[in-house]
Parts: sequence; structure tokens; C-alpha cells
Amino acid sequence: MTLPEIDKERLPKNVAIIMDGNGRWAKKHGVGRAAGHEAGAKSVRAAVEACRQLGGIKSLTLYAFSTENWRRSKVEVETLFRLLSKYIKIEIDNIHKENIRVVFMGRLGALSARALRDINYSMELTKNNTAMLLCIAMNYGARAEITDATQAIAAEVRAGTLQVEDIDEACFARHLYAPEISDVDLMIRTSGEMRISNFLLWQLSYAELVPLPVLWPDFRKQHLYEAIAEYQARSRRFGGR
Ligand code: IPE
Ligand code: IPE
Ligand code: MG
Repeated sequence: MTLPEIDKERLPKNVAIIMDGNGRWAKKHGVGRAAGHEAGAKSVRAAVEACRQLGGIKSLTLYAFSTENWRRSKVEVETLFRLLSKYIKIEIDNIHKENIRVVFMGRLGALSARALRDINYSMELTKNNTAMLLCIAMNYGARAEITDATQAIAAEVRAGTLQVEDIDEACFARHLYAPEISDVDLMIRTSGEMRISNFLLWQLSYAELVPLPVLWPDFRKQHLYEAIAEYQARSRRFGGR
């Protein structure tokens, strides 16, 4: 397999992925949706390792569960949370060894005690790591995030610790769930879908969007390299000439 040419000097700093297509993969293979999600969980390792090994990528943000995904059946939702705990159990030691810091973002208060325990354990264990940030969006919705940031800002104004005139873009970005990723450079969506699906609405303002036809369970390092090569072939203008 030939690897695409990647310029290590021009890597995207902040990468985000909408991991989509587990259900279609399951259908294609004649297995249940749970098996599709199970297979998809394994692709996470490929994505994390590829980013870490390239060096120079500051953060990888993965969309794991949206505020709208509660609309799925109870059984499917339970499967997704069971897989979250399993993923943490299997992967966290290796992630820690690789000097990767893990954060979870979203309305975490609504999650079960078990999910919260596993999430908090992984964040606490890796909190001083510096090589890369792995940000997992869990019960995440961009509209919820913007609403929550607005509430936090309003509360500071009410308390008198923030002046209305001091609310600017930088201030707003500091109130997002994970201020470190407030500018995403590259956003990948697998399964060929061309939607944002309520992901990172603020952070994607000038991101390069790269849809990949591959279904998430089939995602391998090669696909990340292809997306980066595509990113590097684009001309980013940020509104300038
Ligand atoms: C992505 O795969 C996983 C989550 C949304 C949690 P889907 O389950 O959305 O797969 P498709 O879109 O049905 O193929
Ligand atoms: C987005 O995928 C959410 C995650 C990948 C976690 P969906 O499959 O839920 O999005 P829609 O419903 O196709 O827009
Ligand atoms: Mg989907």
C-alpha cells in the first residue's frame, strides 16, 4: 500500500472526526448494530495511534455520542455506553503510556454513575500528559455547548466578575467545554455523509472538511493519512485573498 505524501511541517494542529457508519457496516456484514459499534470501537485505536505517531498534531476530537443519539433504542444506547467503559478499560494504560491527555466534553452530568466513574478515572490518570490531547465528545451537542457557555458567561456578569464589554470571541471560546480546541483545522466525517450533525459549530468556522467514503469500522491509519494529504492540498484563506 502506498502512503500518501505528508508534509510533517504543515500538519493540522487540531483534528476532529465524526465517526459514522457503524450501522451501515453491520448491515453490510449481516450482523447486529451492536457488532457494528464493537468493530467501530477498534478503529479508535488506529485514529489515535496515527495522530500520535505523526507528532505535531495537538488534539484529536472524536464524536462518540451526540445529544440527539438518545433518540435511538434503549438497547443501542446501552450498548454504546457499555462500549465506552470497555474502551477505557482496554485502552487507557496504553494512552497514558503514550503521554496522551484524555478529556471528555459534553453534558456529562446526565451520564450514569458508572460511565462517569470511568470517564473521571481516565481524565485524572492522564491529566499531566503533554504529547497530545484526546478529546471525546460524549452526550455532546454544539448547540448545548454554546448554550452552556452563554449561561456561564451570564452568571459571571451577574456575579460582577465579568463586564459585558469584555465579552469578545476569545472570552467566549474560553467558556467552551474544551477551550484548547477552539479552532479545528481538519474535520473528517466517515461514511460519506456531508453533515455537521451538531458537532463543534463554533470550532469548525474555518476547518477544512474532508468526507471519507470508508465506514468507520473499516477506518485505518491509511485513511487518516489520506485525509491529511487532502487537507494539505487545500488552500486556506481565512477570508483573505
Ligand atoms: C456512528 O455510527 C456511531 C454513533 C453515532 C454513535 P452510526 O450508528 O450512526 O452508523 P450509521 O449511520 O447508522 O451507519
Ligand atoms: C453523528 O452521527 C454523531 C456521532 C457520530 C456520535 P449520527 O449518525 O448520529 O448523525 P446523523 O443522524 O446521521 O446526522
Ligand atoms: Mg450515523
